[in-house]
Amino acid sequence: MQNLFSTRPNEAPWWRDALIYQVYVRSFADSNGDGIGDLPGVRAKLDYLSGLGIDALWLTPFFPSPQADGGYDVSDYRDVDPMYGTLADFRQLLDAAHERNIRMIVDIVPNHCSDQHPDFQAALAAGPGSPEREKFIFRNGGGENGELPPSDWQSKFGGPAWERVPDGQWYMHIFSREQPDFNWHHPEVRADFERTLRFWSDLGVDGFRIDVAHGLMKDLDLPLRNTFGADSAPLLSPPDGQDHPFWDRDEVHGVYRQWRKILDEYDPPRLAVAEAGVSLERLPMYVRRDELDQAFNFFYLRCPWDRDAFRTVIDAALAGVAKVDAATSWVLSNHDVVRHRTRYGLPAGTDLLRWLATGGTHPVPDDAAGRRRARASLLLTLSLPGAAYLYQGEELGLPEVPDLPAASLRDPIFERTGGTEKGRDGCRVPIPWDAAAPGLGFTDGVPWLPHPRDWSKYAASEQEHDAGSFLTLYRQAAAARRRMLASSPGPHISWQDFGENVLAFRRGRLLCLLNFGPDELPLPAGEVLLASEPGISSVLGTDESAWLLVP
Ligand code: GLC
Ligand code: CA
Repeated sequence: MQNLFSTRPNEAPWWRDALIYQVYVRSFADSNGDGIGDLPGVRAKLDYLSGLGIDALWLTPFFPSPQADGGYDVSDYRDVDPMYGTLADFRQLLDAAHERNIRMIVDIVPNHCSDQHPDFQAALAAGPGSPEREKFIFRNGGGENGELPPSDWQSKFGGPAWERVPDGQWYMHIFSREQPDFNWHHPEVRADFERTLRFWSDLGVDGFRIDVAHGLMKDLDLPLRNTFGADSAPLLSPPDGQDHPFWDRDEVHGVYRQWRKILDEYDPPRLAVAEAGVSLERLPMYVRRDELDQAFNFFYLRCPWDRDAFRTVIDAALAGVAKVDAATSWVLSNHDVVRHRTRYGLPAGTDLLRWLATGGTHPVPDDAAGRRRARASLLLTLSLPGAAYLYQGEELGLPEVPDLPAASLRDPIFERTGGTEKGRDGCRVPIPWDAAAPGLGFTDGVPWLPHPRDWSKYAASEQEHDAGSFLTLYRQAAAARRRMLASSPGPHISWQDFGENVLAFRRGRLLCLLNFGPDELPLPAGEVLLASEPGISSVLGTDESAWLLVP
């Protein structure tokens, strides 16, 4: 099937060096005053997004869902939740995005569904031993009367990964109890997801983000094997070579080989990007030629503010994908982690979960450092070879909100840990658009998470015409990146030596410099294309970066 983006022969796929913007739909823009962002709200902001210079949008799940986990609990994979609009709204948004040359990626959640999904409801009703239960992971419990969970498997959101139902059986859920895991050994489960990929591809979406891509296949041989090691850290993966009962099992690649065939039925082939919390060694397996296209580079996201650490992560990521002739991706924030402006203001090694538990008070982040580093890191991210993912609001320099009132928290992590973990709501606070409007222009009603009192200062309206704002820097960087890519700089970088505190590399004629050290760095000869702070022309201070055009 052709569309206006059909690829010409020998053309690199559009996503290789794409700039992709993540929209957390619930928190982006509300069109009808119910306090919740929606699809018409996203459409109303397309000119803003186009002005930002992005190539694609990734929308977090907007499918029918009871919202037990912000929509990652899907009850119908091929429709739109009325809270977010209608399928007609989605089509309009897609067309309007395509008219502006913006591609659209939707978020597929194959590991689990909602406990309200008709298949799960049917499984509950049909009882133990029924074919309906086969689509999920039901087991009898341990102990004398089956009163113990079938294995030691733990939910990533706290507590056991098993929930008991009234007839005595238990079902598995890696996440909240409202998110039962599918049994991917079941042919109908596979067939149904293939229908879902085709449904959205036929509608014209350009790609898919695959949620928890490394978790689909479980070792269900009886007796169920226990896990090893603590498994509570987000995205923790088993040490290499260990055969974990549900993370990163080799069989999962069979699913993606099958999906590749479907994605390739379209012109251009649909993109698939994996959220896979696996080791750097194993991550390239997910982007082999006959599997998915990209995987999020969470090693980059987790990298401490340290020159050598960045260099190590960048080298390892580039070497990993080179082995399989793929491109890597770069990401610093998303809807699951503390925003990077805030992370970079915290002392190295801060335990973020504990920091959140203190309401963000111990320690207090150094906001000036966080601000400088967030700006400096943008130039690094946007000059590296591969796709870059931005998370909504980082272009406004939004910080984490660690002190939301407990009554407004919605992340299931908060409830499942009995309140000991705050969860991820602090990076999901709605976007401040307009400093002067009630609801900061996000909504005419009451936003689903409250805005901190001082957030009008981050509003897009305030940054629009400010030469020193985050928004201006993001626009300039995206435009400069586009010009740089037009000169076909290729997928390689070469490190340059500017002393032990400076990260420096060339990509084509671009020289990217980031000064991690305390001393000023005199800039070498060359034209300064862009710097992380306005007015930089001859020296880079601490935590500042620049792009130079060199001969
Ligand atoms: C992914 C999502 C996260 C969600 C989880 C369960 O990690 O990014 O938000 O809670 O999967 O679907
Ligand atoms: Ca709404």
